[in-house]
Amino acid sequence: MTKTILRALAGETLPTPPIWMMRQAGRYLPEYRATRAQAGDFLSLCYNPELAAEVTLQPIRRYGFDAAILFADILLIPQALGADLWFVTGEGPRLSTVTSADDLKKLKPATDIHYHLSPVYETVRILSRELPSETTLIGFAGAPWTVATYMIAGQGTPDQGPAHALKNENREVFVALLDLITDATINYMSAQIEAGAEVVKIFDSWAGSLSAQDFQDFAIAPAIKIIAALKAKHPGVPIIAFPRGAGEAYVGLHAATGADCVALDDGVTAEWAAKHVQVDGCIQGNLKSSHMVTGGDALVSETRRIVDAFKGGPHIFNLGHGITPDADPENVQLMIDTVREAR
Ligand code: CP3
Repeated sequence: MTKTILRALAGETLPTPPIWMMRQAGRYLPEYRATRAQAGDFLSLCYNPELAAEVTLQPIRRYGFDAAILFADILLIPQALGADLWFVTGEGPRLSTVTSADDLKKLKPATDIHYHLSPVYETVRILSRELPSETTLIGFAGAPWTVATYMIAGQGTPDQGPAHALKNENREVFVALLDLITDATINYMSAQIEAGAEVVKIFDSWAGSLSAQDFQDFAIAPAIKIIAALKAKHPGVPIIAFPRGAGEAYVGLHAATGADCVALDDGVTAEWAAKHVQVDGCIQGNLKSSHMVTGGDALVSETRRIVDAFKGGPHIFNLGHGITPDADPENVQLMIDTVREAR
């Protein structure tokens, strides 16, 4: 029996959508906080295969999600390329910046990332042994634009200003950085697949700040290159694209990129997306993650509404963005029960 997530990704309309959740292993779970404390800090957890596999499995044990997502971070790629990376508690990531040809020269070639990332591949191998037979293992990486926004600014930014500035003021360095990340991402996701990832997802969390031609050049074009390279090497492995904030540009995205599934944020209505995006293939996402904090009738009715809107085509139930640390684990169970009873 084929796994439900793989059936949906192949275009099948299922009576009940399979479910997983972005950031399903995370600080809202007491067992995650305990394992992270045991590891010492977030990055030590990412690079400890036994413990990273353990936190990946925690939400599967607790909730029986249909997919597990590898526990790692999109910023491991910059680190593998030679950037310094650290996390400031309560604030977020900090990196050494890349804003000049000299900075770029100091980075490693895209083929030299595997030694640094080998613990991540080991996590994938452990998971493919230990996951229940019905659970799909999803690998991932950040999209080149999103990863570049952190490498250029050295931290998260509300409007990706420094990355836009480099794009406009030193196009050559900007394009070379995106090309380097693109090639590294192909190598990285390919190695995840070889280690046992059954699906891969590309997170373009800041795609929404690219407009018109920039969206084509720096969100769509790198996605095409990554997806074509992975499909050439691993033809049977489905790929999920998540251009968060794409808005109208969600229309036609399956065909434009070659992705098997398009992940939706909460900036579009499910009814609109069913009509304009799901017509082209599998979709996932859309539930506002704040419902995992507030719960109650609003969570139940919005969950039912999304299941209902997408019932005519291939659908994987998910949130529009990651679950937040202040979420109530009980609300996650309420969402799952609602999806599974909403038929
Ligand atoms: O989804 C999962 O459960 C798998 C693991 C995963 C993490 N990050 C773990 C994590 C995945 C898929 C990511 C992706 C990621 N990381 C993205 C793209 C998705 C998105 O949220 O838009 C981005 C932009 C990052 C970069 C990143 N990592 C930031 C900005 C932060 C700090 C903000 C925050 O939430 O604390 C992180 C840290 C991070 N990555 C945590 C987790 C569980 C929290 C770290 C902790 O335990 O303290």
